[in-house]
Amino acid sequence: MHEVMKIEGGHLLEGEVKISGAKNATVALIPAAVLANGPVTIVGIPQIADVKALADILRILKVEVIEVANDHIIIDPSHMENVDLDDDIVTKLRASYYFMGALLGKYGYVRMKMPGGCYLGPRPIDLHLKGFEALGAKVTYEKACYTIQAKKLKGAKIFLDIASVGATINIMMASVYAEGRTTIENAAKEPEIIDVATLLNKMGARIRGAGTNVITIDGVKSLSGCFHEIIPDRIEAGTFIIIAAAMAKRMVINNIIPQHLDALLSKLKEMGVNMEVGVDKVVIERSENLKSVDITTRPYPGFATDLQQPLTALLTQAEGEGKITETIYIERFKHCIELAKMGADIELMQAAAIIKGPTPLYGTKVSATDLRCGAAMIVAGLLAEGVTSIDNVYHIDRGYSEIDKKLSALGAKIWRENVD
Ligand code: EPU
Repeated sequence: MHEVMKIEGGHLLEGEVKISGAKNATVALIPAAVLANGPVTIVGIPQIADVKALADILRILKVEVIEVANDHIIIDPSHMENVDLDDDIVTKLRASYYFMGALLGKYGYVRMKMPGGCYLGPRPIDLHLKGFEALGAKVTYEKACYTIQAKKLKGAKIFLDIASVGATINIMMASVYAEGRTTIENAAKEPEIIDVATLLNKMGARIRGAGTNVITIDGVKSLSGCFHEIIPDRIEAGTFIIIAAAMAKRMVINNIIPQHLDALLSKLKEMGVNMEVGVDKVVIERSENLKSVDITTRPYPGFATDLQQPLTALLTQAEGEGKITETIYIERFKHCIELAKMGADIELMQAAAIIKGPTPLYGTKVSATDLRCGAAMIVAGLLAEGVTSIDNVYHIDRGYSEIDKKLSALGAKIWRENVD
């Protein structure tokens, strides 16, 4: 028996939804908290499987994790031990790699298994490791485990060949206690990086320039506990905005930072979506006459690769030909094969796809091959005639906080079943 998510499509949605704290900030903030020498309180934690896995890793490290409320945890590393992370749990998610930077930064030593996560084509971590080496660490890999150690970490100038989110955050964490100044050039500029730098600075770190392409970190001797509230999840927000553009009679999406969604909102405007953008919310009514657009994924502030997949589902309803070009993960197109099973007309090319619309979609058996493919299947399922059955739901649960509950409250017919 395994669990599937089922959606009966064709029902218009109406009401308000509140966006949760950002998954891709949370999964870095939790490991970053171990750099403190006292309790760190984090508010706005999304209810996702990745958080549970990270909390389990914290417990392996003898870090106290107190779940105060649904979205509110206290992480107390006062009595932590730098235990080898050779447990399989590390391979369940990508973000376990943030323990590399955090433990190296704190102890000068870390041994852990290779991180896992969604398969989106090759996802190397060479830039993370080169960054650690530049700070004076030695990296070895044997029996599926990395050992990274340094007698002393010393600040360095690091140029990233690619503006990697993970490498930028990991190097920030590894260098907060390093002697002297670290400079990261061609740093990634995603809002989640600013959120992690804000947490570390509240703990007493001296990080400047987060959100620009040059970040400097001046090493400090000690970090203390603090209180932090996570920024809203721009990808969850974008997913609900796309869902609203597809199916909303009228939907209010609350707790967003519209600036973080500029690239998506301007593309949707170009498509002819009816929307009104407020200070921290957006109101959307579906429009009958959507026009196709072309998008190219880029690092922030460009169009997010994570939203490319749910947007593909919406493009099946737009008039004309829309081309999606991937520049971040060139193999991130498995959702197109699933959408085609539902009736979409999509031509796959090298690192690109052309979607011809509008085409009606029909409910059938599909798979959430990765997290954001799961989001695309939900958009398509809501649009489709009949019932869509989505397999591999655990991918969706890794990154979307109570998505079926939120959609049900808006009037969607969505439920889970155990099937053979
Ligand atoms: N890259 C390298 N070497 C490295 C690191 C990255 O070649 O050492 C390449 C990657 O292969 C990719 C590009 O650089 O082509 C950008 O990767 P990046 O490191 O920025 O991605 P990431 O940190 O692994 C995060 C998010 C992803 C999101 C990407 C891009 C987390 C945990 N994951 O991944 O989120 O797609 O940034 O914005 O923050 C998701 O939420 O579904 C998801 C996959």
